[in-house]
Amino acid sequence: MPRRPLNTAFLLAIASCLPSVVLMTSSYDDYSRLYTEMTTGRYNPHTRPVRNQSHPLTVYVIFHIVSLLRINELDQTMDINAYIDFSWNDEIRTWDPACYSDITVIRPDPSHMWRPRNIISNSVGKSDIFEDNYIPASIKYNGESKWSPGSVFSTSCDMDFTYFPFDQQECRMFFFFYNSEREVKVTKGQQEGRLFTYSTNGEWDIVFSTIEIISSVNKDVPAAFIVRFKLQRRPDFFVFNVVIPLVIMSALSSLVFVLPETSGERASFSTTMLLSQTFFMGTVTGELPHRSDTFPIIVFYIFSLFILNCICVIAAVLQLRCHTRPSKSVASKTYSDVKTAHTAAFQSNKIPFSSQLALVPVYKYCGLSTCS
Ligand SMILES: *[C@@H]1O[C@H](CO)[C@@H](O)[C@H](O)[C@H]1NC(C)=O
Repeated sequence: MPRRPLNTAFLLAIASCLPSVVLMTSSYDDYSRLYTEMTTGRYNPHTRPVRNQSHPLTVYVIFHIVSLLRINELDQTMDINAYIDFSWNDEIRTWDPACYSDITVIRPDPSHMWRPRNIISNSVGKSDIFEDNYIPASIKYNGESKWSPGSVFSTSCDMDFTYFPFDQQECRMFFFFYNSEREVKVTKGQQEGRLFTYSTNGEWDIVFSTIEIISSVNKDVPAAFIVRFKLQRRPDFFVFNVVIPLVIMSALSSLVFVLPETSGERASFSTTMLLSQTFFMGTVTGELPHRSDTFPIIVFYIFSLFILNCICVIAAVLQLRCHTRPSKSVASKTYSDVKTAHTAAFQSNKIPFSSQLALVPVYKYCGLSTCS
C-alpha cells in the first residue's frame, strides 16, 4: 500500500504532540477554574477584601506622570496624562499555586473584583474620570492586588503670575475615595511621583511632585489624598520675544532727544515707539488671565514705559511747537487767538472744560515764556 508510510508519519506526529496538548489543556483548565473561582461565587466585588470588616484596608498609592500636556493660563487649568498605581492586600482571594499548575497571577476583569475607586474633586471635566472597567488589574496568589487606572486629567489650578515669565506654579489634584477613612487607609507607595515615563513639556518643567495623605479626626469622611506639583515656566520664549525687545526699546525711546530739534522727526519717532510698546502690552496681557488680584510685575514695567513714552511724545510735540514759533509778538497773538477760540468753544460746549484748563497753561507756556 503506497499510503501507509504517510499515515504512520501522521500518527507519529499526533502522538508526539499529544502530551503537550494534554498539558496545555490542563493548564488552561486550571487557569479557567482559578479565574472562575476567584471572580464569582463567594467573592463580592463590592465588599472590601478583609476578613474582619471593622479593620481598615491599607491601600498604597504611587502617582506616575506620563506627560504634562498643557497649562492654560487664561482658564487656569492643567491637563496632565498620568496614572496611579493602587496596591493592596487581598485577604480573601489567595490560592496555592501548586494546586493550579503553578499559576501565580491572574488578571481579572476589574468589574469582578473590589478596587479603590476615586473621584477628582477639582476636575474641570468629568469627576469620575477613570474609565475604570477597562483598566486591567492583577491579583497574585498571596493576595497582592494591583490596579493602575489612568487618564488625561484636566484640573483647575490657582496660578500666581506676579513674576511672569519667571513664575512657578503650584497645582494640586484632590482625589477622594468612595470609601471612608474607617474603611480604607491610604499610604504612600515606596516611590512617589516617578518620572521615568515622563516626556518633557516645551513650556513647563515639573520641579517636583508629591503625594500628601489627608487624614482627619472624623473617620467617617471619605479617605483622600492630594497630588501636588511644582511647575517652573521655561522663560526663554518670553525673554527673547518680549523682555529683551522691551528693554532695548525703552533704551531706544530715550534716543528721541538725540535727534535734531529742527527736523520734526522727534514727534514721529516717539509716537512709533509708543505704538510698538502698545503692541507688546497686548502680547503680554494676551498671555495672562484677566484678573486684578495678582498683578504681574512685567505689566507694571510695560505700563511705566508707556507713561514715559507718552511724556516723551508730549515733550517732543511741545518742543516742536515752541521751536517753530517765529517771534514773540506772533506767539502772543496766537495765544490770544487760541484763547478767544477756546472761550468761544467753551461757550458752545464743544470742548470739555477740563481739557481747556489743561491746554491753556500749555499755550501760555509757549506764548509767554522764554522759548525764543
Ligand atoms: C474585628 O476586629 C475588632 C477590632 O479589632 C474586634 O473587636 C472584633 O472582635 C473582630 N471581629 C471578628 C469577627 O473577629
